[in-house]
Amino acid sequence: MRFYVTTPIYYVNDRPHIGHAYTTIAADILARHHRQRGDETFFLTGVDEHATKVWRVAEAQGLAAQDYVDQIAEAWRALPPRLNAETDYFIRTSDEDHKVFVRSFLQRIYDNGDVYEDVYAGLYCVGCEEFKTEDDLVDGKCPLHDVEPEWIEEKNYFFRLSAYQERLLELYERRPDFVQPPFRFNEVKSFVSGGLRDFSISRAGQPWGIPLPWDESQVAYVWADALVNYLSALTYARPGEDLREEFWPEVRHLMAQDILRQHCIYWPAMLMAAGYSVPKQIFIHGYLLLDDLKISKSLGNAVDPLELIDVYGADALRYWCARAVPFGQDGSASLTGIADRYERELGNDLGNLLSRTTAMIVKYRDGRIPGGPAGGSEIGAAIAAVHDLVPEHLDRFDITGAIDRIWSLVRDLNRYVTDSAPWTLATDDSRSADLDQVLYDLADGLRAAAVALWAYLPETAPKILEALGQPLEVDWELVRYGRLATSRTIAAAPPLFPRLEAAAGAT
Ligand code: MSP
Repeated sequence: MRFYVTTPIYYVNDRPHIGHAYTTIAADILARHHRQRGDETFFLTGVDEHATKVWRVAEAQGLAAQDYVDQIAEAWRALPPRLNAETDYFIRTSDEDHKVFVRSFLQRIYDNGDVYEDVYAGLYCVGCEEFKTEDDLVDGKCPLHDVEPEWIEEKNYFFRLSAYQERLLELYERRPDFVQPPFRFNEVKSFVSGGLRDFSISRAGQPWGIPLPWDESQVAYVWADALVNYLSALTYARPGEDLREEFWPEVRHLMAQDILRQHCIYWPAMLMAAGYSVPKQIFIHGYLLLDDLKISKSLGNAVDPLELIDVYGADALRYWCARAVPFGQDGSASLTGIADRYERELGNDLGNLLSRTTAMIVKYRDGRIPGGPAGGSEIGAAIAAVHDLVPEHLDRFDITGAIDRIWSLVRDLNRYVTDSAPWTLATDDSRSADLDQVLYDLADGLRAAAVALWAYLPETAPKILEALGQPLEVDWELVRYGRLATSRTIAAAPPLFPRLEAAAGAT
């Protein structure tokens, strides 16, 4: 199977916050999981540079737009590695190759007869980088940014979106899982059924952007440039290769609902107009709310994800993102939850389990993992459930459901320690074989859990494997009972998630 996953390319008018980290982490979890399954995987992220708001920030700072984006793009490029996200390419829309591709893409639409010239007179919200109708506004203001949109009157080129209404509805009909979750798909369908207006794909009088190939006095409207990144990147991410053959249209776009219309309506129509296949799937997750407030710089409650990483580590942030809000639903997440989950779940459920297991193997068996797999083991059944069900959850983008499933294995292992009481078995020589079995099952269960957790906790999972003397391999087939290597002598493992006295103040 081929799996190509994308995040939106983020606007560089400001620095990354936790909302951006959220989508990038989710995409990385999916990409890592598919790599574990042996799928050919490609993970793309990057930045959107030609927005009016980006240009204005540069102006305000007295910088040439290109100099400004060159600087700030580096803060964004540093984000995925800080999150332990392993991307295959980081695209910038000011890449020369992207610009060349966008021009030829738009020319194809133009040649197809779907572009015409007209005067645009209406409202534009720079925050959304979107043209607005009166219906979009609340008390004359953009409800998302709480500002009055600007009046714009200029000669523009328009894309004949209205001509695609029937073809879009037919696509939605034919592909019932095109947009997920279903309640989002319904929003899209009813919007399209209500009739589509053509939209402007150019801006006059803005010197920042990609000049249109047929009229260099205008630049491409930022969305007509940005959406194309998902395709353009494939043409130059690996020099000498055209990855479109391999990965288009096997793409899954991930984003929040703020940019659902552009992805579910504009983008497929533009692709059809340019003669390309439409994406495989579009998944819309909810907006992460902190104590019910949308996070954004303009509301003054933006959280710098890098600060959280300094306190808790990237894996704890990833874990919190996966569990704080059911993925795909809108939710309110409290940042105090991260301290709590760090301590109770990562520290106690997982970290202590490893410390106790390794300490008992050292104490009772001199560090040699005893025994071997047993038929009918209850741990074997718990591992099999993870092996079979986690891929099903993740194929539905159910990142939260999948980690819940893995965590129930971790909890089963903790219960198994309590129920089997190895410290009691150790006092009775006649129960030595039982103790061997318990220690084997604990170590094997932890090993399998570590492999399954790798997509979520890529820094921690190898530490667990190493502590258990296992090879650092994370192939999904290793999430099976009885694959424990027992030859090496192990030592008692140090805590995976040390207690953070200082963290209390930081939250
Ligand atoms: N540049 C456009 C996207 C172009 S894609 C061809 C853009 N950029 S953005 O910087 O505003 O990013 C919006 C996206 O960031 C959301 O769709 C979502 O993926 C992520 N998020 C930003 N804040 C978020 C939350 N508070 N919660 C969840 N996701 C958030 O739109």
